[in-house]
Amino acid sequence: MSETKSGGLMGWIDARFPATKMWNEHIGEYYAPKNFNFWYYFGSLALLVLVIQILSGIWLTMNYVPSGAEAFTSVEYIMRDVEWGWLIRYIHTTGASAFFVVVYLHMFRALMYGSYQKPRELLWIFGCLILVALMAEAFMGYMLPWGQMSYWGAQVIINLFAAVPVIGPDLAMWIRGDFIISEITLNRFFALHVVAVPLAIIFLVVAHILALHEVGSNNPDGVEIKKDKGEDGNPKDGIPFHPYYTVKDLFGVAVFLIFFSIVVFFMPDFFGLFIEPPNFEPANPLVTPDHIAPVWYFAPYYAILRAIPDTFGGVVAMGAAIVILFFLPWLDRGRVRSIRYRGLSFKIALGLFAIGFVLLTYLGTQPATGLNTLLSRVGTVIYFGYFAFLFIYTAFGLERTKPVPERVTMK
Ligand code: HEM
Repeated sequence: MSETKSGGLMGWIDARFPATKMWNEHIGEYYAPKNFNFWYYFGSLALLVLVIQILSGIWLTMNYVPSGAEAFTSVEYIMRDVEWGWLIRYIHTTGASAFFVVVYLHMFRALMYGSYQKPRELLWIFGCLILVALMAEAFMGYMLPWGQMSYWGAQVIINLFAAVPVIGPDLAMWIRGDFIISEITLNRFFALHVVAVPLAIIFLVVAHILALHEVGSNNPDGVEIKKDKGEDGNPKDGIPFHPYYTVKDLFGVAVFLIFFSIVVFFMPDFFGLFIEPPNFEPANPLVTPDHIAPVWYFAPYYAILRAIPDTFGGVVAMGAAIVILFFLPWLDRGRVRSIRYRGLSFKIALGLFAIGFVLLTYLGTQPATGLNTLLSRVGTVIYFGYFAFLFIYTAFGLERTKPVPERVTMK
C-alpha cells in the first residue's frame, strides 16, 4: 500500500483518515472471482436503487405534508405545481418496485449458487434483515400519499396483528396509536419511513458488505477462490474489483437506467401495479374499495396469508414464509454450492420454487375466488415444500452431485 505514504493532498489525508486504505481494502485490492455473470449485477444495482430512493425521498419530503388534511393534496401539489415534482415522485414510486425486482433477483442468485452456505451465513442473515426492513419501509411509505389504497391496505395489514391471541387488539392499537388508522398513525409512519428505517437499512447494507468482504464473494461455480492463491498472495481466480467490476457494474447501471427511465416516463403506474388505481382517490374511512390488494411485491406473502382459512394461522404462515429464509443456511446441508454441480432434483425443486413464487405474486393481487384460493394453497405448499425438500434431500444424503472443478470455469 505504497499510496498511503505518498505526499500531496492524499498523503495528508491518509495520515489522518484511512481513505486509501479503505479504497484498497474494499475496491482497488478487493479480489473478486473472475467468473461473475449476469446474476452478479443485482447487488450493485440494489445499492444504486438505495441511493435513488434516499435522494428522491429527501426531495419529496421538502414538499410533502404528513397530516390527515394535507397529505393527499400535498402529493397532488408535488405532481402539478412543484418544479419537476412529478419526476421526483415517479422516480420514488418506480424506485420502490425496482428495489424489490432487484432484491428478489439478487436473492434468487444466492439460492442458485448456494451463496448462503458456510462461511456466508451471516452475510445471508444481514440480507434477510435488509429484506424485512425494506418491507417495513415500503409498507409505511405506501401509506403516506393517504389515498384509498394507502388507508385500506394499512387497515388490512394492521388488523392482522389484532388476530394474535390475547395481546392482539392492544398490539394493533399500539401500532396505530389510535382506535382507528388516523393522522397519528400517519405521523409515526412518516417518522419511521423517512428517518428510522432508512438508517437501519443503511447500517445493515454496510454490515452486509463488510461481511461479504470478510469472507469473499462466492461465484457461479461455488468454488472458494481464496483456497488457491498465487505467489503475490492474491487468489489465482480473482481479479481486482476496480477497474474490472466497476466497469462491468457501470454497464449494468446504464442498462438498468434505460428500463427504469422507460417506466418513469412512459408507464409510471405500470398498469396499476406500481401505483394502484384507488390510490388516486383521497383516503375515505367510510368507503371501502371494492378490491383491496397489496402492491405486487407483497402479493406472494399476502397470497400465503389468504391460503390459510384461519386468520391467525394465515398470519403465522405469512411470518413463517419470511422467517424460514433466515434458517436456509442450516436447512441446506448439501456440500456442493452451485446449481451447476448439484443433483437434478435440486434443479427441479428450485425451478418449481421460482414458478410457485411468481404464481403466488399473481394470486396475491387477484380477488380470493374459489379457484384462486385453491391455487394459492398449491403455491404455499410449493413455497414451504422447497425448504422441507432441501433439508430432507441434503440431510439424508440423497443428492447425487457432479464433481466440482478445482478452479472457476469461464465459458
Ligand atoms: C438494499 C439491499 C441490498 C443491497 C444494497 C445488497 C448489496 C450487495 C452487494 C453490493 C453484494 C456484492 C455484489 C453481488 O454479489 O451482487 C451483495 C452480495 C450478496 N447479497 Fe446482498 N444486498 C442487498 C440485499 C440482500 C438480500 C435481501 C439478501 C438475501 C436475503 C442478500 C444476500 C446476498 C448474498 C448471499 C451475497 C453474496 C453473493 C455471492 O457472493 O455469491 N442481499 N449484496
